[in-house]
Amino acid sequence: MKILVIGSGGREHALAWKLAQSEQVEAVLVAPGNAGTQLDEGTQNVDVAADDLDGLVSLAREREIDLTVVGPEAPLAAGVVDRFMQAGLKCFGPSADAARLESSKAFAKDFLSRHEIPTAAWIVVDNVDDGLEFARGRSLPLVLKADGLAAGKGVVVAEDERTVKKTLEDMLSGNAFGEAGHRVVIEQFLVGEEASFIALVDGETVLPLATSQDHKQRDEGDKGPNTGGMGAISPAPVVSDDLQDRIIDDIIRPTACGMVSDGHPFTGFLYAGLMITRTGARVLEFNVRLGDPETQPILVRLKSDLAEALMKTLHGKLDEVELEWDPRPAIGVVMAAGGYPDTYRKGDRITGLNLEWPDEIKVFHAGTRLENGNVLTDGGRVLCVTSLGDTLAQAKGEVYRWLPQIGFRDDYYRTDIGHHALARAGN
Ligand code: AMP
Ligand code: GLY
Repeated sequence: MKILVIGSGGREHALAWKLAQSEQVEAVLVAPGNAGTQLDEGTQNVDVAADDLDGLVSLAREREIDLTVVGPEAPLAAGVVDRFMQAGLKCFGPSADAARLESSKAFAKDFLSRHEIPTAAWIVVDNVDDGLEFARGRSLPLVLKADGLAAGKGVVVAEDERTVKKTLEDMLSGNAFGEAGHRVVIEQFLVGEEASFIALVDGETVLPLATSQDHKQRDEGDKGPNTGGMGAISPAPVVSDDLQDRIIDDIIRPTACGMVSDGHPFTGFLYAGLMITRTGARVLEFNVRLGDPETQPILVRLKSDLAEALMKTLHGKLDEVELEWDPRPAIGVVMAAGGYPDTYRKGDRITGLNLEWPDEIKVFHAGTRLENGNVLTDGGRVLCVTSLGDTLAQAKGEVYRWLPQIGFRDDYYRTDIGHHALARAGN
């Protein structure tokens, strides 16, 4: 079969790399892709932007694509799956209606409350006065979230009333996040350890992927601004087998069933961002696609044929899918451009990519492009260096031993990815 992957980040490189390994797959096109998907054997880039829905439908028709897999949230929220379905083409992901679980935080919170799925106490406001009134009766900190998509950056933890007021003013005036901030969700601050829980979902049928844990803050010790994610591990030891069962029973299945009973059944990857509190897991957010960078360590552990699993899911046969995982843990460390997530340089040459890497190491590209045979930086998150190991400590040691061989001007990475899990294991 011929596959099209939509997107250009590290998640999409990992998806394309994994899909190309399937014996049933003869070609993997990536629109628009990055230098990694251009250079890899078995994958090729096509110059169509991820938000050009007409262009993507035409591409899939012309190139006789059997299955399209959508990486990022924006095309899903814009209805790419609906458009493909109308054109009689197979596209893996939720409809725009179902994608509101991610594209509107107010929609997601209302959904969670109505279906009694555990989450932080909340309110949605469209004016500063209502926000301040809610805040007055609550203990600080409070978490303020722009309603719409803001690339993981529309969340502010306010430690004092002044910050609550200033954030409300900034978001509601549209200055901080544009249209996405015209409604603001304010919620109770939850204490615990975060984990990412991703499942394949088709209607009421769910199948979890391996667990994972992201590191959202830019700097060591989970400090600094929120980012799309600076590194991830799989599995996440905080999610024990028991807890996994409770997450499926109390969160994932009720979400799938709730979406069906609300009249917008979900098909695709459902990602619950969880806070594991002392009294159980609570939903911080939903994403309607794979996580980036969680996908990179998850997919290097997947032994099964991903193309077959996705095709079966689209044919209503998710109950027949079994996924086999490498028991070894994996870690992925993001190399970012200095300054990310604010302003950063682009167009710098990346060196060290042509080394002979050991089998356990895979360098996934994110914000990169190819120019005259050189790989240049082209985004905030540039690469994700991933390793498997017999233990997480060993995988981490390998990644940080190899990673300094790669370099570009002002490169930046955290050296403590996996620290929660390692502390649990007594490291
Ligand atoms: P979100 O985009 O909703 O996942 O929020 C981004 C990040 O903000 C999360 O990964 C958490 O680190 C933090 N966060 C969001 N909501 C809460 C909350 N209610 N309590 C504590 N931290 C939160
Ligand atoms: N790593 C978090 C996300 O993909 O949203």
